[in-house]
Amino acid sequence: MKSSTIRTPDAEARPVRVKAREVCVFYGPKQALFDVSIDIPEKAVTAFIGPSGCGKSTFLRCLNRMNDTIEGARVTGRIELDGDDVYDASLDVVELRARVGMVFQKPNPFPKSIYENIAYGPRIHGLASSKADMDGIVESSLQKASLWDEVKDRLQEPGTGLSGGQQQRLCIARAIAVSPEVILMDEPCSALDPIATAKIEELIDELRENYTIAIVTHSMQQAARVSQRTAFFHLGNLVEEGPTDQIFTSPAEKRTQDYITGRFG
Ligand SMILES: Nc1ncnc2c1ncn2[C@@H]1O[C@H](COP(=O)(O)OP(=O)(O)O)[C@@H](O)[C@H]1O
Ligand SMILES: [Mg+2]
Repeated sequence: MKSSTIRTPDAEARPVRVKAREVCVFYGPKQALFDVSIDIPEKAVTAFIGPSGCGKSTFLRCLNRMNDTIEGARVTGRIELDGDDVYDASLDVVELRARVGMVFQKPNPFPKSIYENIAYGPRIHGLASSKADMDGIVESSLQKASLWDEVKDRLQEPGTGLSGGQQQRLCIARAIAVSPEVILMDEPCSALDPIATAKIEELIDELRENYTIAIVTHSMQQAARVSQRTAFFHLGNLVEEGPTDQIFTSPAEKRTQDYITGRFG
């Protein structure tokens, strides 16, 4: 497929990082996604919205092959990351999941120290050549996740002892530590209070300067606040996608209009 660019409202055309074509997902005999095609540009946030059960998480998981871990799940179609076929049999899935990191609904730090939560990935990927090197990665990852100042004096304490919002930023720092290109987030604020949510949204806005971000959210307000592009899913179909402003103010499809005006959902 030839490379292309996408215009985001805030800046000039952006190169496409992730390209999905006619992606279908089956759970056993049940089809959950139907021919989803989308281009996801770099250095922007793309939000996946739609009613519960429409396939948002299923599609997000296709992008770093997390569906591989679900028994009976089958994916067809094509997904490319910078032109590489994500489903190529020779592709190293561990490597892929470093390039395409994931943050889940419920913060899930490892039952280890704050330091070890961050150091674990760089260690298994051989990214640090010395203790000082690793210390540097841990600090810069926590800085980028806006958590450093809150934890720098207690790096040896358990990650699970942090507040929910801090744990979620720890998980974002953990994803950042292995230098991902893409960060996937599946309803990353749904277990958080409004203040912690606002902090994560602010962080997402900062991260988009350097990463390609795809976020699933059930909150249309959140999609409007954090994303530059929005994709609306319904019953396993990608109904439409485009610049967030356009999707919220003048969607092309009646189903999108009905959803964003609260007629169903
Ligand atoms: N592990 C699974 N096994 C079987 N069916 C699943 C599984 N995960 C999701 N589904 C089904 O796939 C459809 C899409 O689910 P999901 O992607 O979780 O939707 P969303 O994230 O939009 O709420 C739903 O009908 C759901 O029941
Ligand atoms: Mg979901």
